[in-house]
Amino acid sequence: MAEKNLHLQPRLRCLADLVPQQARLADIGTDHGYIPVYLLQRGRIDRAIAADIGAEPLEHARRTAEEYGLTEQIDFRLCDGLAGIGAEETDCILIAGMGGETIISILENAPWLRYGEHRLLLQPQSRQELLRTWLTEHGFRILREHLALDKGTIYNVMQVQAEVSAPLSEVELYGGVNVEEDPLYGDYLDWQINKMAQAVKGLRLSKNDDAQQRADELERLMALLNEKKGAWQRDKSSGN
Ligand SMILES: C[S@@+](CC[C@H](N)C(=O)[O-])C[C@H]1O[C@@H](n2cnc3c(N)ncnc32)[C@H](O)[C@@H]1O
Repeated sequence: MAEKNLHLQPRLRCLADLVPQQARLADIGTDHGYIPVYLLQRGRIDRAIAADIGAEPLEHARRTAEEYGLTEQIDFRLCDGLAGIGAEETDCILIAGMGGETIISILENAPWLRYGEHRLLLQPQSRQELLRTWLTEHGFRILREHLALDKGTIYNVMQVQAEVSAPLSEVELYGGVNVEEDPLYGDYLDWQINKMAQAVKGLRLSKNDDAQQRADELERLMALLNEKKGAWQRDKSSGN
């Protein structure tokens, strides 16, 4: 019987492609366990830790591994964030599909990450700007970001290392860090601008001064991102 091959959707594929060859991967919040299974199947890694805070998602990961005959190569851990994982057990930590605030709390609770021996791959579902700020203020540098279009949504994946980082510009904070080479960058900026425009619409309905000030601030940021998009498009069409 032909061996079954697991295929990944673009968001997960983008994450999997960034895991270094032979990494000692820890997939935190693994849920379905697709990323470790995909990488093991292709011989990109030899072993992985698949961790989740929930017994049910971890069971899901176990079923996926069973389906592809890979249970022996995966260490299943029921734990909150990195609480059940030792620093020396991994060199690549993937945290995906969770809100920015949850990712921050997982990183905060693992002070050993600050020694700089681990590559982090982070894919926040929300509060991207909050996560970017937290990282740069807490000894982490976003090396670059990658974008993936999956079922009509653009997701960003951050490659992060514990290193001193310069403060981010406002464009980086809302539009991503070192991501201009990604063909989806213009669409990502549009998505951010549209999100802000929606928020402004709601705020303008309020008579509250604070709400009006916030709306003014968002409009200023929208203009900055629009300007960046124009410059990016000009660069692209001139071949820079
Ligand atoms: C939406 S799923 C994402 C699954 C997968 N990482 C992905 O990107 O497709 C989020 C998973 O994170 C788990 N999770 C949430 N908070 C967690 C925490 N503090 N520690 C470990 N897992 C957590 C949830 O139980 C759930 O299985």
